Amino acid sequence: PIDSDSLSPRAPERGGGARGCRARCSRRVCVLLGSLALVFLTSLFFSASLRGGVGFSYLEPPGWEESRRVKLVPSYAGAHRLSPAEASRAKTCGCPRCVGDPGVSDWFDENYDPDISPVWTRDNVQLASDVYYWWVMLQPQFKPHSLQQVLLRLFQVIPGRSPYGSWDPGRCLRCAVVGNSGNLRGAGYGATIDGHNYVMRINLAPTVGYEEDAGSHTTHHFMYPESAKNLAANVSFVVVPFKTLDLVWITSALSTGQIRFTYAPVKQFLRVDKDKVQIFNPAFFKYIHDRWTRHHGRYPSTGMLVLFFALHVCDEVNVFGFGADSRGNWHHYWEQNRYSGEFRKTGVHDADYEAQIIQRLAKAGKITVFPGK
Ligand code: C5P
Repeated sequence: PIDSDSLSPRAPERGGGARGCRARCSRRVCVLLGSLALVFLTSLFFSASLRGGVGFSYLEPPGWEESRRVKLVPSYAGAHRLSPAEASRAKTCGCPRCVGDPGVSDWFDENYDPDISPVWTRDNVQLASDVYYWWVMLQPQFKPHSLQQVLLRLFQVIPGRSPYGSWDPGRCLRCAVVGNSGNLRGAGYGATIDGHNYVMRINLAPTVGYEEDAGSHTTHHFMYPESAKNLAANVSFVVVPFKTLDLVWITSALSTGQIRFTYAPVKQFLRVDKDKVQIFNPAFFKYIHDRWTRHHGRYPSTGMLVLFFALHVCDEVNVFGFGADSRGNWHHYWEQNRYSGEFRKTGVHDADYEAQIIQRLAKAGKITVFPGK
């Protein structure tokens, strides 16, 4: 250290000579060294306590500070449960409870991916190779067409854009997911179902004659080619494709009508609002199989696909018409379907596991289940 006085213009000596000067100078050096030591020790103490513990900071391996800091940043993937104050700041919608709110369930946060689009659009035409091979093997008897070509042609007929926005703290989009279970019969949920912004139905799902129990309003109808029927104006047909031929079929059914058969007869022409047709994204299909149904069953049931679709586009999700009968059959509210337990033998879906997921989502406060009769 340099004695700062040695750099100043020298003061006139007031007597005492060279000895006095040496004594004064060495005192100054001592004071300066002491202050520097004090500053050094204080900064050492603060840096150690910021790192999380005095005395341990020098024992940490290189890079420790970096990884510790990353963990402290609250992430969407549920790194830690939020305090009530943090949770209210993190609110993603205007409903009392929002599907997208983080910090409510670690299980949900760890598996939920808000970035994956439920809709297959012009912007996500390309499938990752693992998704592509999984998807084309769902019905392996069909030789795949070129996806690029098929989708290019399809998006000349339908918009090929996602109509869904991102989270908005001022919005409360309430959705009813209506399965086809016989538990709807006599349940009287019609008016409650119709009171939602979106009402999502699946496959045949008749409403005429079932208004009291199943409601009459529909905004989204999810079907695959072999289950497709004409829909009322203003209803969004969400096509659930299992093969590239299904994309060729929907293009054809809305234009030239050349496809009449896949593994079963399909509608040559379909009366639906072309501008509202959406395609269920195979990447989203596989995401449900991987993260949520966890490979139970060969692939998730259409009801599961719709439930998770709703969990990614709605703020509040209410579930109706899910649940097997006392013998484990997937019975329907409009008919006595004798072979409705068939999937158990074939292993296509795992109804018990799906029922557990529904229960778990309800317990986590992400959905409300209306159990029916
Ligand atoms: O029978 P379908 O597949 O048309 O029913 C639509 C969906 O409703 C099923 O994929 C299943 O998820 C659900 N469902 C149910 N319990 C039933 C019948 C159907 O959970 N008894």
